[in-house]
Order: sequence, then structure tokens, then C-alpha cells
Amino acid sequence: MVNKITVVGAGNVGATAAQRIAEKELARRVVMVDVAEGIPQGKGLDQWESAPIEGFDSRVIGTTGYEETVGSDIVVITAGIARKPGMSRDDLLNTNAGIVKQVAENVARTSPLAIIIVVSNPLDVMCYVAKHVSGFPRERVVGMAGVLDSARYRSFIAEALDVSVRDIQAMVLGGHGDTMVPLIGYTTVSGIPISQLMDKPTLDAIVDRTRNGGAEIVKHLKTGSAYYAPSSGAVQMVESIVFDQKRILPCSAWLDGEYGMKGLFLGVPVKLGHLGIEKILEVTLTADEQAALARSAEAVREPMAAIKF
Ligand SMILES: NC(=O)c1ccc[n+]([C@@H]2O[C@H](COP(=O)([O-])OP(=O)(O)OC[C@H]3O[C@@H](n4cnc5c(N)ncnc54)[C@H](O)[C@@H]3O)[C@@H](O)[C@H]2O)c1
Repeated sequence: MVNKITVVGAGNVGATAAQRIAEKELARRVVMVDVAEGIPQGKGLDQWESAPIEGFDSRVIGTTGYEETVGSDIVVITAGIARKPGMSRDDLLNTNAGIVKQVAENVARTSPLAIIIVVSNPLDVMCYVAKHVSGFPRERVVGMAGVLDSARYRSFIAEALDVSVRDIQAMVLGGHGDTMVPLIGYTTVSGIPISQLMDKPTLDAIVDRTRNGGAEIVKHLKTGSAYYAPSSGAVQMVESIVFDQKRILPCSAWLDGEYGMKGLFLGVPVKLGHLGIEKILEVTLTADEQAALARSAEAVREPMAAIKF
């Protein structure tokens, strides 16, 4: 375990992530920060009171200030507003950019050596805001989206084949949005290529459902968006960093020439260890996948250009 992990935003994703971090004892102290007076304090205390029953010793606290967060090893940023029905991720752009800017300034001031995991949407653009404002190197700013998109894809495949989710290996790359790129050639079931187990129309339907996975949950919930799987995704990344697992996970990373692209965050396979992003893996893509990744990059660059610092 590390000494301290901060989760900024004690809403649905943030509070669930904090609870998962504490239950897995990934840090001695778990600090939740939110601007809504009383919410982080109440949720933090409530979670801490579950410790004797769940049997964890991570001390959870909630606060509206940053003093308690000083010297955090990892900061997960979930602050922002969530998508409402009919709202695209990009509609969230301006509000969440202002929020993430303010959060990143505070994180840089109080935890200058932290690794930042961004969850707030629109994801790849919020990663850019966090990196730009904090001034942190690219190894220490990473976005959570691919782990969630891949988990959705894997859960749908497991359901369709009636096999264990554990045996489905898959990667979803690109921006976190409708232009995400599921890599069918790298989708296997215990090493067996998916094309040998599933016909194309079924797989196409799964890919389509994955692309719209966030909207499907929003449609059900009506108020708010997904948070159980998103918090699991963020915590899997936290775990890989805390235990230096060096997992290969699809994460949003600042590209500097990889995949022929520069100067933007995009979902790519990365090795996550105690230093943060230890390597970006460049896998061979088909011409169609490369073109889809380029389209995905365009969908990230456009809102990026609209950000004023
Ligand atoms: N990357 C992904 O795959 C993914 C998945 C799910 C949700 N999200 C995004 O995560 C964010 C959080 O979603 P949620 O469902 O938890 O929303 P939520 O509304 O439940 O929680 C957001 C919290 O942020 C707080 N907040 C607002 N401004 C703040 C500030 N300046 N400092 C600290 N806290 C602040 C709010 O008070 C609120 O409690 C949204 O932007 C959502 O779109 C991303």
C-alpha cells in the first residue's frame, strides 16, 4: 500500500472509487475532496464506519480543502458534472474544463509528485487540461476510459459466448467517445481469436453496443451516468501503480510521435507501474483501425483547440 490516495469529486464515481480503494487497502489514508460542503465529510465518515465490518484499515476522510491531501501519491480526478440524457460528452467541455483546471492547480501545489488519474469527461481533453495546468510530465498524467470501454466489450462477449469474463482479452483504443476503436484482431478468448468463436454480425453488434455503452446506462438511469464500472476501471489503474504490477492496460496517454501522432491524449496500450506510464506499446493496426484511430484523434483535437487557459 502507499501512504495517501486522494479522490477529487465525492460524487457517484469518486465515492465508489474511494470505497473500492479503501476496501482493497491500497493506501493508508484515502482522502475524498469535494466542493459540496458536507458531502465528502459525510461519505468519508460513513465509509470509515464500514471498516470494522469489511475489515480494512485504510483511514477514509472527506474534506472540502486540500490541506488533508498534501503529499498524495496518487490523485484520481472525478470532479465535474456528469452527462444528462441526450447530452454528449463534449457538451460537458466548458464546465468541466474550468473544474479540472482548478483541481489540477491545487494538486500541483499540494502533491507535486503525485500521479494523476483523470476520469472527468470529456476524458481525453480533461487529461490535456490536467497535464497543461499541473505541468506534470506525461508519465504522471493518465486517463481512465479504455479500461472501462474494454470491460464493457469483454462483458458483452462473455455473455454472448456464455463463458467466463476472465477468459476474454480485449483492447479498446482511441478517444473515449463514439469514435473509440475496438481492436477485433486482438480480441481473444483464452488465446483463441474471437473470429473463430463468433460470427461477424454478432461481433459487429457488440462493437456497436460498446461504442454506446455509456449512453445505454444514462438512458436507464435518467439522472446521472455509469459509476460502478467506471470506478472499477480507475481502481484497476490505481492498483497497477500501487503494486507496480506493470499491467498493460488501454489508457489515455499524451502521445509524442507514437502511432504517428503528437500533442494530444488518446487511448493506447500502456504499461502502468509505480512511475505511472512506464511505456506506450505500439501494436500493429490494420489500415481500417489506423484510419479509425486518426478519426478518433480528430474528435479529440477539435474540443482541445477550444480550451482557453
Ligand atoms: N472516463 C470515463 O470513462 C467516465 C465514466 C463515468 C463518468 N465519467 C465522468 O466522471 C465525472 C464524475 O461523474 P459522477 O457520476 O461521479 O458525477 P457526480 O455528479 O455524481 O459527481 C461529481 C462531483 O464533483 C464535484 N465537484 C464539482 N466541482 C468540483 C470541484 N471544483 N472540486 C471538487 N469537486 C467538484 C460535485 O460536487 C460532485 O459531487 C463526470 O465528468 C463524468 O462524465 C467518466
